[in-house]
Amino acid sequence: MNYNKKTVLDVDVHGKKVLLRCDFNVPQDKQTGAITSDKRIAAALPTIKYLLENGAAVIACSHLGKPKGADPALSLRPVAVRLSQLLGKDVIFAQDVVGPDAHAKAAALKPGQILLLENTRFEPGETKNDPELAKRLASLAELYVSDAFGSVHRAHASTVGVAACLPAVSGFLVAKELEIMGKALNDPRRPFVAVLGGAKVSDKIGVINNLLEKADTILIGGGMAYTFAAAQGGAIGKSLLEADKESYALEMIAKAKEKGVRLLLPVDTLAAKEFSPGAAAVTVDTMAIPDDMMGMDIGPKTVALFCDAVRSAGTIVWNGPMGVFEFDAFAGGTRAMAKALAESGAITIVGGGDSAAAVEKLGYADKITHISTGGGASLEFLEGKELPGVACLMNK
Ligand code: 3PG
Repeated sequence: MNYNKKTVLDVDVHGKKVLLRCDFNVPQDKQTGAITSDKRIAAALPTIKYLLENGAAVIACSHLGKPKGADPALSLRPVAVRLSQLLGKDVIFAQDVVGPDAHAKAAALKPGQILLLENTRFEPGETKNDPELAKRLASLAELYVSDAFGSVHRAHASTVGVAACLPAVSGFLVAKELEIMGKALNDPRRPFVAVLGGAKVSDKIGVINNLLEKADTILIGGGMAYTFAAAQGGAIGKSLLEADKESYALEMIAKAKEKGVRLLLPVDTLAAKEFSPGAAAVTVDTMAIPDDMMGMDIGPKTVALFCDAVRSAGTIVWNGPMGVFEFDAFAGGTRAMAKALAESGAITIVGGGDSAAAVEKLGYADKITHISTGGGASLEFLEGKELPGVACLMNK
């Protein structure tokens, strides 16, 4: 998709109350609820600061998790605290979304002040894109700014519905994500190499299909590679298999040949007898995994093959780990790819979710050109799907 949407720079924000949709869906410690990464909060700061410094009063909102009703464990209050620390100024918190507290605090808000509403998903109408909820949210403000890149694939009241009630533009984060990923897809520095991993072929169907139209080389690792191996007659033991996707895998191999795209699959695999961090690893041929073993990571020959393919790349897009990177013994393939990207000299883009977490955990984040804040959203963008939370914004 090509978008040419207005941003905060194209409208007058001075003296306006601005409803700012952020993606503050941050990871939290399961036991304590503490925020374990504030990257998404930090990513919203440029737009927040711009609005505040230019005389707007900011009414920020976001979802957090998938609550069923108003679940105190998923309150955005800790986010207000962290946001206030990062901004270095008070963040007023409303204990409802469109209730009396939100209304009173939004009405009293002055230019240069920021209010954060409670979790939008505490309102049952949010995920149904209820027009009544959208109207009530919009009634708090005079301008809508979408900076929630991680949520633009959701057509919800706070991401899409409000844009029908207010002038709607993007913030700097959404604009940056669209620009960097859009350029990689539509006008990449070549060779353009896509590295795809993760557990399931079914999650990546649209992505492989779309990238076969755009990339010069596609590398496939992770759990989904075993379905490709099985489809070509390989023995894959107890490895992940989506039998109903075997014909799709063969179609993709044929499409790659027809389009002249180099599609590289693993030639060797680190396999183990059980799915556990301490399982003994052996290197086997990907097409001949013993019956009692499962593939856990790409093997050394594949690491060399894949690293060689990214070394000469002009642009690299990576989505999905190469193996079970959360277990140290099976993180080698993912680590090697992260290092190869970091050292490649190419424009490197890492899709959100697991691959972003892997790059961060392995210490290569500062060597990557762009790590997307969107998991599902960046995947849908790579699939070439329309993003409803972007499509609803005003055109330039
Ligand atoms: C994400 O974490 O990918 C976004 O915040 C979207 O969250 P959701 O899958 O709960 O809509």
